[in-house]
Amino acid sequence: MQVLVTGGAGFIGSHACQRLLRDGHGVVCLDNLCRGRMGAVEALRAGDGGDRLAFVEGDVGDRDLVSGVLERHGVDAVLHFAALAYVGESVDHPLRYYRANVAGTIGLLEACAQARGGAGVERFVFSSSCATYGDPPEGMIPVPETCPQHPTSPYGRTKLVCEHVLREYAGARAIAGKRFGVAMLRYFNVAGSDRTGAIGEDHDPETHLIPVAIQAALGVRPGMHIFGTDYPTPDGTCVRDYVHVEDLIDAHVRVLERLGGRKDPVEVVAYNVGIGRGYSVREVLDAVRRVSGVDFEVSEGPRRAGDAVALYNDPSKLGREVGWRAGVDDLDEIVASAWRWMRAHPRGYAGS
Ligand code: UFG
Repeated sequence: MQVLVTGGAGFIGSHACQRLLRDGHGVVCLDNLCRGRMGAVEALRAGDGGDRLAFVEGDVGDRDLVSGVLERHGVDAVLHFAALAYVGESVDHPLRYYRANVAGTIGLLEACAQARGGAGVERFVFSSSCATYGDPPEGMIPVPETCPQHPTSPYGRTKLVCEHVLREYAGARAIAGKRFGVAMLRYFNVAGSDRTGAIGEDHDPETHLIPVAIQAALGVRPGMHIFGTDYPTPDGTCVRDYVHVEDLIDAHVRVLERLGGRKDPVEVVAYNVGIGRGYSVREVLDAVRRVSGVDFEVSEGPRRAGDAVALYNDPSKLGREVGWRAGVDDLDEIVASAWRWMRAHPRGYAGS
């Protein structure tokens, strides 16, 4: 396959590129480098199958640029990761989020529709989020895909709007008699890094719990805060489902293959991707202490705007229909892979 990976220089996108290259596919990585890292692209080029990687710097919403890329590289499938993804930032800058995430996806779909002389790209995997569920109602934890979607942040709403856009676009393609398989994968909290240590998580600013705690353990930051200790959870802190990034990407590859194997011209599927178990913020911090052997400074502060109380998923649909199961379901193991990358790259790719 020739696969376009949007946001391919980012944390999750770069792991997708790595896996596809290892599997022998051709990859076009499209990234505007606003959050992505050129260092990730360089590491991918130096790794297995790096000669099959093409990099294009540009915006996913730039329809003319993207349609040219799809034509030139004969792209068969798209994995769409490019997005802004900070819950807190989305509360302060909603327009920026709607432009990047919603307008970006629309531009990309328009480009896909024009590809292959108007036949269009036939397989599309969208990176959605558990943030589309907001705070699930009672009885809906662990969260099934049928849970009502009521996001609590602008970020979550942008992802939900994209899901609607994709469904409606797929419906229109069906009416026009054109093939289109779309999968929406609703990620829970993605963490860890690749086992070879070539690529990893490098956000600026870093706001995610596991890397923030590791930075505190490494002394890259003086300490960290827990955002809210008065939640209605067993220890008062938020609960999340942490999935290893390589397992998340394995779900993409399996879903992509399945989309290609179906007879129906149009298929729209949604799957949760998480290990199916929730850990509190305090439990995560304990895991970072165990793995690093460092007892770092932690203070307790107020709740962060937009945070849901408890989110962990019911992974049975993905297991049943796609045969996916998390390879790593132990929190310490997930933290250990992030720790190895961050200890070797305490300042991310810039310090490599
Ligand atoms: N947290 C802290 N201190 C920190 C950082 C995080 O207490 O310094 C807490 C948060 O308040 C939250 C939990 O740790 O309760 C996890 O926070 P993250 O920022 O690591 O992850 P989020 O759950 O906010 O966000 C992730 C993804 C989003 C996705 C969201 C859905 O990054 O893309 O899950 O909830 F939308």
